[in-house]
Amino acid sequence: MAVMTTFNNSRPFDVSALVQIGTLHISAPSNIALIKYWGKRANQLPCNPSLSMTLEKSRTYLSLEYRGRSYLKDQLIHLNYQFEGHENLAFAQKITKFLEKLTAKECPYLAYFDLSLSSHNTFPHSAGIASSASSMAALACALVTLEGQIFNQQYSDEQMKQRMSHLARLGSGSASRSVEGAFCQWGVDGLEVGNDEYAMVINKIHPLFLSMRDSILILDDQAKAVSSSQGHALMENHPYAEARFKRASERVTELKQVLESGQWDEFARLVESEALELHGLMMSSTPAYILMRPQTLEAIERIKRFQVQESVKITYTLDAGANLHVLYPEVEESKVLNFLQQSCVPLCVEGRMIHDQAGLGFRFETGL
Ligand code: DP6
Repeated sequence: MAVMTTFNNSRPFDVSALVQIGTLHISAPSNIALIKYWGKRANQLPCNPSLSMTLEKSRTYLSLEYRGRSYLKDQLIHLNYQFEGHENLAFAQKITKFLEKLTAKECPYLAYFDLSLSSHNTFPHSAGIASSASSMAALACALVTLEGQIFNQQYSDEQMKQRMSHLARLGSGSASRSVEGAFCQWGVDGLEVGNDEYAMVINKIHPLFLSMRDSILILDDQAKAVSSSQGHALMENHPYAEARFKRASERVTELKQVLESGQWDEFARLVESEALELHGLMMSSTPAYILMRPQTLEAIERIKRFQVQESVKITYTLDAGANLHVLYPEVEESKVLNFLQQSCVPLCVEGRMIHDQAGLGFRFETGL
């Protein structure tokens, strides 16, 4: 007789269907926000909508081995975790906490599994590339794929991607934007477009922006003095919070128009202003803090000079850190690379730079 229990607090499922063994290999990219998520409400909901470009080369590769049981040993997560071939206690704790949270509501079936995860990133730690975005997205994509297998594909392609983004969001807000599409919006904008629960792909993108390059200048490789989680929390009593959330919402709408029309100058104006505003919010928090370094300002000045004097399509944005993301379309690649080599490499830690570009999201892999 089938022993039924409930899944996702609604649909009953047959626990004997969980007795499966297998391995999934998946990779998911990081992303860079152009309009920033900065401030959150309960259960990882954003205070304002955000819009990002998905990266291509900066990815987390993840293997998930699962072995299901038809009975519960206990309510604990049974996880074996390796990062870059080694045990990593800090990461294992973070992942276990996330899986526990999912088991409590979204994915109760996880309590019936022994899980073994191993992952690695294609980019170094502290490079100014959000590893939580790529790692949580990769894990969420793997879990939803597992659900599809054990529950016989109960999702349409669209529902599957939404659920991947939704679960990724519960792990890290920005991870919701790392599932699919070159440009994504997470959160409801001023025109009531979008969703706070998961990100959506922005489809109308001018080819100029689809060919976008992102060269990340490693200007500081030390751990940040204030984490993003702390930064989000400081928005709670921030004197400019209300104005900020409204402005970000308007900017998402505005940026979507610019992305569709292909106006580079408008794009650069908006994206630069947004990057500086994010850091302005940090500088006006209580306590106030600065994450930019002298090299960050010097690099910005050099990029601005080059942009104006040479009339090159180039701009920049900043994450919550000191490293600069230099954005430019493919047509400008040789000029910009030459400029970066001459003018910016000397500012970078050991001359380090990572060259990435707009990508398309998660994909299945054949192995790690
Ligand atoms: C500045 O997504 O890392 O990169 O939800 O707490 O995991 P958590 O925060 P996280 O914050 C990202 C902040 C940002 C802007 C952005 O990516 O939108």
